[in-house]
Amino acid sequence: MATVKAGRNKTIDTPLSEGQAYLERCITVTQKQSDLSEVTDKTIIGNTLDICSLLPAKSIDLIIADPPYNLTKSFNGTTFAKKKDADYEEYTRQWLSAVKPLLKDNGSIYVCCDWESSLIIGKVLGEFFHIRNRITWQREKGRGAKANWKNGMEDIWFATNSNDYTFNLDAVKIRKKVIAPYRVDGKPKDWSETENGNYRDTCPSNFWDDITIPFWSMPENTAHPTQKPEKLIAKIILASSCEGDIVFDPFLGSGTTSVVAKKLNRHYIGTEAEAQYCVWAEQRLEMAESNPEIQGYVNGVFWERNSLSEQNANQCEAEDSKSKRGRKCKAEEQSSESDGYQKTLFDF
Ligand SMILES: C[S@@+](CC[C@H](N)C(=O)[O-])C[C@H]1O[C@@H](n2cnc3c(N)ncnc32)[C@H](O)[C@@H]1O
Repeated sequence: MATVKAGRNKTIDTPLSEGQAYLERCITVTQKQSDLSEVTDKTIIGNTLDICSLLPAKSIDLIIADPPYNLTKSFNGTTFAKKKDADYEEYTRQWLSAVKPLLKDNGSIYVCCDWESSLIIGKVLGEFFHIRNRITWQREKGRGAKANWKNGMEDIWFATNSNDYTFNLDAVKIRKKVIAPYRVDGKPKDWSETENGNYRDTCPSNFWDDITIPFWSMPENTAHPTQKPEKLIAKIILASSCEGDIVFDPFLGSGTTSVVAKKLNRHYIGTEAEAQYCVWAEQRLEMAESNPEIQGYVNGVFWERNSLSEQNANQCEAEDSKSKRGRKCKAEEQSSESDGYQKTLFDF
């Protein structure tokens, strides 16, 4: 018997049999492409290793790669089996060799991994690119272990093709409440006084503790086993690309990179082996047309955890300054809904 979802469960799990219309929007690539016109803003079904060799060299501005970690995991029935370190190293070298020629000289690449594969990814990535940083994302969820520390983090390596690369610092600053408001000549120093409190936009570090993994009551959630949060991908895309740039994800999964690129006015290309995941990616791309919001990123600002009421107040203030207020602002309406994620919200 089919399981019935709870009312507030927003998980996207459209079966392949019902997702034909989405599947038809995806493409396959079997011929060498002289330019990106046929593949831009598309989800490509197939093996990324074959597809990359058919795409034009130096055509991509930003690559975001979330390859299978070196764990035994099933992706829609296709099992990625844990490999010996030497074999995972060779696997990493293989796919990095495939994507490297596609990146423009001033392009950037980010690669996600867990702590164990991070040892290998960092080493191999350095053979192909200039490593710029290793970001650690502190995740909330992790399985407890009887004789080890629970894993509560992932790494994201940041590398570039050359010393000439895009980094939009102002686009990724984090808005924090000012605890000790320091003044010079009576005026705020490096912070702003607003109706809703005192804030400072701070430089983002390589330790990201303001992002949760998607969960069932969030509209971005799908049934993909290793989906990345939109907020995490938004930081990468905003920092390392400009509007109109091309963002490529060689392991697209449920489509997070393409969806966020679309929401942030970038072009996207994603390759994914499993047709089921391609369906969810296209469904999310369609949803992005009517709802371009990215949770935790409000009016061009990244907020720290536990700040929903401040985010809403800020949203209302922005709406107020645009129009006279005769009704509740949108953010207030949303937070008074009995939505699971609004009620339990603590980290976006
Ligand atoms: C870690 S998941 C990526 C999840 C993605 N970041 C998201 O937010 O949904 C890796 C994905 O790569 C796909 N994959 C693995 N090997 C592949 C290959 N050779 N070509 C294309 N896709 C592949 C898997 O099916 C899986 O969906």
